[in-house]
Formats: sequence, C-alpha cells, structure tokens
Amino acid sequence: LKQTAINPDLPEIPPTRNTQAALVAVLKDLQGNILKSHGRDHSRHLFVTFKTADAADRKKARQWLAGLVTSKLVTSAHRQREEARAYRATLAATEANPAGAQQAVEDASKVFVGVMLSAACYRDLGLGPDATPDDPSFLAGAKQRAGFLNDPKDDQWEPGFRNTLHVLLVAADDHATNRLDPLLKRLRNDLKDIAAHLHEETGAAMRLDASGQWNAQAPVREHFGFVDGISQPLFFADDIDRARTRQGGIDRYDPSAPLDLVLLKDPGGDRSTAYGSYFVYRKLEQDVPAFRAGEKALAAKIAQHAHPTTPPATPHDVALAGAYMVGRFQDGTPVLERDTAGLGAEPNNFAYDEDVDAVRCPFQAHIRKTNPRGDKQRQFGVPLTQERANRIVRRGISYGKVTLDPKPEDGKVGLLFLCAQSSIPDQFEFIQAAWANYQDFLVPGSGLDPVIGTLPRRTPPPTQVPQPWPKIYASHNQLDFAKPQPEPPHFPTPMSHTFTQAVGQWVTMRGGEYFFVPSLSALTAFG
Ligand code: HEM
Repeated sequence: LKQTAINPDLPEIPPTRNTQAALVAVLKDLQGNILKSHGRDHSRHLFVTFKTADAADRKKARQWLAGLVTSKLVTSAHRQREEARAYRATLAATEANPAGAQQAVEDASKVFVGVMLSAACYRDLGLGPDATPDDPSFLAGAKQRAGFLNDPKDDQWEPGFRNTLHVLLVAADDHATNRLDPLLKRLRNDLKDIAAHLHEETGAAMRLDASGQWNAQAPVREHFGFVDGISQPLFFADDIDRARTRQGGIDRYDPSAPLDLVLLKDPGGDRSTAYGSYFVYRKLEQDVPAFRAGEKALAAKIAQHAHPTTPPATPHDVALAGAYMVGRFQDGTPVLERDTAGLGAEPNNFAYDEDVDAVRCPFQAHIRKTNPRGDKQRQFGVPLTQERANRIVRRGISYGKVTLDPKPEDGKVGLLFLCAQSSIPDQFEFIQAAWANYQDFLVPGSGLDPVIGTLPRRTPPPTQVPQPWPKIYASHNQLDFAKPQPEPPHFPTPMSHTFTQAVGQWVTMRGGEYFFVPSLSALTAFG
C-alpha cells in the first residue's frame, strides 16, 4: 500500500489471486468517496452532536453508528465501484434502447452514504485511545486551528458550527429530493432521542454552461464561474488511463497518486483490512460581486498595459484577469498554455517549468499556489515526491442558489469544501497556511492566493510594497508562447493586497471541522 499506485484494474500489477483478494477485502472495509468521488449532484451534510452525559446515551450513540453499517446504509469503496459499473452499463444499454430509459437509469443510480467522526466523538463516546486516529490537528479540532489558518474565531462561525460536532453524515444522490428528503427525515427521527443538536447543509453541483444556464451535460462550476474539479490525484488505473487519453496526456504532469496520500491504517478496525482517511470540512462563503469587481479592477490594469491607447477593459481583459487569479480560464483552459479560453475543461497535462518567471501563470494564481507542480523542486531543491505528498483530494460541492450571478435576495452562496488526506498538517493545513496564506511563496512578494488566501486577523493593511501582481506585460495579449519571454514589468501597487483589503475577502470561512472516515469494521466494533 505504501509504494504502489494501487489499483484493482492496474494492468501493471500482476493480478495474482492474493493481491487481488486482499485489495477487494480492503475496499469492502473502506468507505466510498475517498479514492474516487461519489459523483452525485446533490448532497446533504448532517452534523450530529450526541448527548454524551450518561453511559446509556453514549451506548445508544455507538449503536446508532454501528447500525449504519449493519443496515447497509454506508457505502463501501467496493460497493461504490460496483454500483458505478452497473450504472454505466445501464446508461450504455439505454442508449441502444431508449424505451423506459429514464426509469431504468434512475433505478440504477443509488444513494451514497458516508459517515465520519471528529476527535470529540472518539473522546466523548469513549471509543478508546487505541481506536482513535492520532493526527495532531485532527485531535486538536478545527476550532483550535482557526488562528493558525487565519480563520475567523469559532465564535464568529455560523451557529450550527459553533457546537461540538461529533459526526458528519453525507448522503448524496442525483435526484435532489425524491430519496434524500425521506432518508434525512428517517435519520433525524432515529436521532431524536440521542442527539443534542443537529445541523444540516445542502450542496448542489452547478452544471452550468458559460452563460450560466443549467445543462445536465455541462461540467461542474463554482460560483465565481470557473469549471472545478479538473485536477485531482488519481488512484485507479481506469481514471489514469482516462487522463492519459482525454486530458491531454500525463507526461508533463502525472496525476497518479499512491494510496497513502489519503489512506492510513484505521486503529479501530480489523487489523488486516481497515483503512480510513482524514477529511477537512470548511463552509466557504463566496462574495461573487466583490470577486467580479476584483476581476474588473485587474482587467483595467491589464488594459492599461496591453492597449493604453484604447483604455476600457475588453471582455478578453476581464477573462484574462480571472485566469490570472485562478490559473485557469472559466472553461478550465490553463493560462499557462494560452492567453485565451477555448481548450475546454479537460487539459491537465502541464507543469510550470516552462514558466519559471511566472510570466504566463502568476505564482499566486490559485492552482499554482495549491499545487505548484514542481516549482518547489526548482526553487528550493525539495524533492518532487515531497511536494506531491502535500496534495489533497477535493470532494467539495457548492451551496446556495445555483447561479453565477447571485443577487442579494438569493442569499449566501459558496463552497462546502471537503478534502481527503492522510495527514492534515502536511496536506490541507500546509497548502492553506504555507502556500495560499503566505505572501512569500513561491518567491518573496508573490502575494496571497487571490481565491483563498487570508492575512492574519487584526494585521494592519500592509504598506505599499511593490508587488509583482499581476506579472503581465504589455504584449501579453499577443504573447507568442513558443518564444523565450522578456522580463515582465512589476506593478508599483500591491494588487492582491489592495483587493483583499479593499473589498474584504472574496472567500470567508463560516465554520468547519476535522473528521476521520473510519472503516466499516471499526464502525461495527463501536456498537
Ligand atoms: C483547483 C476554486 C478552495 C485547493 C481549483 C480550481 C478552481 C477552484 C476553479 C480549478 C479547477 C481544477 O483544477 O480542478 C476554488 C474556490 C474555492 C476553493 C472557488 C473556495 C470557495 C480551495 C481550498 C483549497 C483548494 C480551501 C485547499 C486549501 C485546490 C487545489 C486545486 C484547486 C489543490 C487543484 C490544483 C491543481 O492540481 O492544479 N479550485 N477553490 N481550493 N483548488 Fe480550489
């Protein structure tokens, strides 16, 4: 498990009976949505705070957890894979014979259920130190880590997150209400005597085309308008093959990952089969109008440099400004590859060694900050394997009105950010604190990640330090990417500071927690 990219279908691994059988046993004991996204478009997140004052309450809570497995509600990684196969087969069959197709497809799609526990849950239910995963940040909990991450203090979080959270149950489906509503109602009813508090969040994948219209075939976007979920560590051979053939190859950037990027032994489960994963949960509110204003301000700077004689920013300048902030155009085209959109959402086969001075893709662009693809090796001599071990697997989903143009009356919108890893300090926290929030990564003066970077609370606005944001220059619009590029001019004003200070932040953390996704055998044993 440690060294190999694991994979039941990986042709390179000799399919001997033993390894195959051992792997299947692990996947049957492992929960789904870790190694591969459950892929459903609608999600309910039920946060449970148990009554834990007396032993009888604690026992009932433990039995409820075990019952989720014995009643076959929890989806194992193995079942997720089998169900996905059956679903794809039904889709293919209904293409050939469309009669009754919709019903057949609906029947073949199953509800996904996952369950994860906080450190407070292990402690308050008395699950035992030997059964408790020992990641220090997990044990401390997200409330304790807020200061380190420049998050608002927990007394500023939304009320539902201020309680001690014990369990997060994720239920997901392609049909928003048909099956999720009754399931959540049943769960709430089962919990009514044993829970002190329940809190719920609702997520919906935003399958919107470029103009913001719903289209079931469209890739998923987040509220700033960008296609999301393109770049992920991949564990299964069929996914790696798809990246090889449909995402432009894997020779410049290899998305494959060893299992131990996200899995670790679950100390509470069956010794030979039990693995689990740490999940970070963050409710991240997005201020869309402020982000658009930021894009426009940056576009005006681009216009000033690119075509000073025809001053107003063009739509192309605005698109380029967004691409500098995210590292991709809204349709997913990496700004490293082109100065206009159009490659579509798939391309992921790129690294930054052709752009060591950040002339095409700024160092502070969200995707360059959060996955530097070899920048660290070049800059600091850190082995590439070490940088790749910082990667996370993202499993988030948007919340709030499904629109790219939310009005004040639509309420708040944002991302229910979820990510999987085997070490919270080395992966999520490292990315957020040491890269996104650190203005001197990759090089001194790089600036904050304009999507998720935050300054320490109560820090006075920085003084006017010249900052190379954005690293564009007059000819960028006509940039010939094949030629060596001249040194870009630096802007005299600290743009990213100006943005984040002037408009507040575009993304604000509203609450969250750190969880462990235990094996099915551990959950059963808790009963
Ligand atoms: C990629 C948006 C929060 C880590 C992306 C992409 C977008 C995006 C549009 C590009 C699509 C892709 O490559 O999949 C957002 C928004 C966020 C948010 C709007 C908050 C509301 C976060 C957080 C983290 C993070 C909190 C981790 C600390 C990443 C990573 C990638 C990514 C690792 C892939 C980079 C790569 O491999 O090239 N995000 N993100 N994101 N984001 Fe975020």
